[in-house]
Amino acid sequence: MPTLLHINSSPLYGTSISRQLSDSFVEQWKAANPGEKVIERDLTATDIDPLSAAFVAAMFTPPDALTPDQKQILALSDTLVAELIEADEYVFGVPMYNFGVPAALKLWIDQICRVGKTFAYVDGAPKGLLTGKKATFLIASGGIYDANTQMASYNFVEPYLRTLFGFLGVADVTFYTAGGVSALNHGAIDRETFLAPHLAAVAKHAKA
Ligand SMILES: Cc1cc2nc3c(=O)[nH]c(=O)nc-3n(C[C@H](O)[C@H](O)[C@H](O)COP(=O)(O)O)c2cc1C
Repeated sequence: MPTLLHINSSPLYGTSISRQLSDSFVEQWKAANPGEKVIERDLTATDIDPLSAAFVAAMFTPPDALTPDQKQILALSDTLVAELIEADEYVFGVPMYNFGVPAALKLWIDQICRVGKTFAYVDGAPKGLLTGKKATFLIASGGIYDANTQMASYNFVEPYLRTLFGFLGVADVTFYTAGGVSALNHGAIDRETFLAPHLAAVAKHAKA
């Protein structure tokens, strides 16, 4: 059964551009993949604590030596990792916040980077274990950070996610950014006109 993991991280729900794009991707992907399964993971609605000393200790404890308390500490992380392993494909809705990813997404990343589960060290070199997966990142930003512009160096969203998922073994990645949302917020363009080319690009990619 083709399985898609859908991860949203904007807290703005009804007005979020990245949510609208990723929701649209899911609808198109479902139509193109009969008998599919979609796992929904809304990071704004998932209570994830920042890493603690107890979590780090549990993370590096061999599975058969974990105490009941440590198993509890790792329970959410185990669930989030299981979602990544189960899915064949991932789609992320990502707002740019302060030139980087939102804190909710970073908290999730800190839970899913698990040695022995999502990456390993083989002969001293890191090896991603999420192989054979495909990921699409649908990013919304107020500004425009096109390659070869002066602003490109301010964009820490795409380079960070590209590096991280490469590290985890996800080789087939697509990044699509709806840049210039501030024009929408200032009333310089209406939402429908702004979204039309982005929704068309997302639909084309979801069906590919
Ligand atoms: C707290 C906050 C920080 C933001 N920081 C940036 C930024 O650094 N660069 C940028 O281009 N846009 C920034 N924006 C604009 C958002 O990226 C833009 O509104 C985008 O549409 C948010 O995604 P969403 O619509 O899916 O919530 C910021 C918006 C907020 C609310």
